[in-house]
Amino acid sequence: MKRTILLTGGAGFIGSHVVRLFVTKYPDYTIVNLDKLTYAGNLENLIDIANQPNYKFVRGDINDTVLINQLFDDYQFDAVIHLAAESHVDRSITDPGSFIQTNIVGTVNLLNVALAKWQPKMAQNTDHNLRFYHISTDEVYGSLGAEGSFVESTAYSPRSPYSASKASSDHLVRAYNHTYKLPIVISNCSNNYGPNQFPEKLIPLAINNIKNQWSIPIYGKGENVRDWLYVEDHAHAIDVVFHQAKTGETYNIGGDNEWSNIKLIYKLCELMDVKLGRKPGESAQLITYVKDRAGHDLRYAIDATKIKTELGWKPLFTFDKGLELTVEWYLKNENWLNNVISGDYQNYYDTQYVQR
Ligand code: NAD
Ligand code: DAU
Repeated sequence: MKRTILLTGGAGFIGSHVVRLFVTKYPDYTIVNLDKLTYAGNLENLIDIANQPNYKFVRGDINDTVLINQLFDDYQFDAVIHLAAESHVDRSITDPGSFIQTNIVGTVNLLNVALAKWQPKMAQNTDHNLRFYHISTDEVYGSLGAEGSFVESTAYSPRSPYSASKASSDHLVRAYNHTYKLPIVISNCSNNYGPNQFPEKLIPLAINNIKNQWSIPIYGKGENVRDWLYVEDHAHAIDVVFHQAKTGETYNIGGDNEWSNIKLIYKLCELMDVKLGRKPGESAQLITYVKDRAGHDLRYAIDATKIKTELGWKPLFTFDKGLELTVEWYLKNENWLNNVISGDYQNYYDTQYVQR
């Protein structure tokens, strides 16, 4: 079956894995990747598929109504997979404005255009493939104590500007379904890790610092717990939800893989000692406790029973395997890391992409 999908945020970490999966697995689909190329967007993430005939990159902002209308007219999308967002909690604490603008206002802009363009088909009930798929986070549910996990019916209790902006966008997506019958689905996923993640997030930041023998900053006492999922498992879950979920549904996605930050960093140090030929315990000496993140959520944990039982998804990568693949990728792709750290990756669009 032919489909034409507007995928937003495809030059980012998770988006690049979703673009690659869809472009290679579904040659009959056309994937239009709309990305503003903020600091987090890197077209080097997609070099291997950039010339595929069913892939198209458009540089642009999800807030640009004229552009989004034009893209809908040009491509006649039957689906949107919306990943574009400001995604880093620490940045949301210092600059909440861009999170409101992109995550809330930008999402409403996409919803409005999709609704206006799809309304005739919705009224005639002629296209059952229409789907607005919003990618969200487990952080909307707030913070857990030592016990329990988030299910889809857990009440929202976002506590950072980032999670509040994502919660707001989730509510708006559901409101467009309830009020205007826009066909939507939402998934809320736990912490991802893997290749292409910007080295501001814990795992790639620590890998880079260990490699360079720089100190590894651990916020507070390192007792905060996150539930880690390999990014390709998330991309696979997005594929399953996109194709199988009933309209209006929400699915939690997670790896049943909880680690306190400090235990995770000791594990990573051990692995990197081996990979870098260092003495056991050498990298762990870089661990440095620093001032805690403001309003730091204690613990997230996802109950993924619904997606497992209803849609048959399960993670394929153990944490040992995923972490090893991640470390190997960062050590092998020094250029990617150096370009990101130097800022050179931001010239890629102008120097390489448009000249192709
Ligand atoms: P990322 O920061 O790596 O990438 C975000 C992408 O969106 C970048 O390519 C950026 O250029 C683009 N973008 C930002 N603002 C834009 C705008 N106004 N218009 C167009 N493009 C814009 O993010 P990520 O970690 O890949 O997360 C992707 C999505 O998944 C986000 O919606 C995030 O909330 C969600 N999510 C992330 C995680 C995680 O652990 N990283 C977990 C659950 C959910
Ligand atoms: O839970 C899903 C969310 O996971 C996503 O929605 C976000 O987009 C994603 O960034 C991530 O948010 P976190 O804040 O959990 O991820 P981060 O990698 O920033 O931090 C993970 C944990 O490590 C958190 O408890 C803070 C801590 N930390 C982080 C950094 C960057 C440190 O101790 N030191 C650090 O230098």
